[in-house]
Amino acid sequence: MARIDKETTSDIVAQYGGKAEMLVQILQSIVMRYGWIPEDTIRQLAEELNLSRADVHGVVEYYHDFRTHEPGKHIVKICQAEACQAMGSRELTNHAEKILAMSLHDTENDITLEPVYCLGNCACSPAVMVNGKTYGRVDEKRFNDLLDGMRGND
Ligand code: FES
Repeated sequence: MARIDKETTSDIVAQYGGKAEMLVQILQSIVMRYGWIPEDTIRQLAEELNLSRADVHGVVEYYHDFRTHEPGKHIVKICQAEACQAMGSRELTNHAEKILAMSLHDTENDITLEPVYCLGNCACSPAVMVNGKTYGRVDEKRFNDLLDGMRGND
């Protein structure tokens, strides 16, 4: 994904009236367009919104979707919330980490593996999201198939 430039950051801040209370919406807008929030963007947001960097960092760290590292081409999220845990998402996560040879929050070989806390698909636990599309009742075989399909679209 591309790196956000200073001008675009300023434009997004201006779209929200330059208001510090719109920080969450500003961050969401940046993540929707660029997938992540670089440190220099956090610094710029703090300056333009008259906040401390710690203030901006606090919000970024609170929300799981506000990642501060550039994601891979493919983003795989495994739900870690209660209903999915009850249906085996921890075991599925262990499987994913093993076959991808990476841990949650890592990016390797164009794939970012992340936890997510409820995809609104609890009735079909465990749930997984691959590149923005949600899948339910994902067992190890289905997970492998999803990865194969994802790679097949490259
Ligand atoms: S708990 Fe996993 S989708 Fe809701």
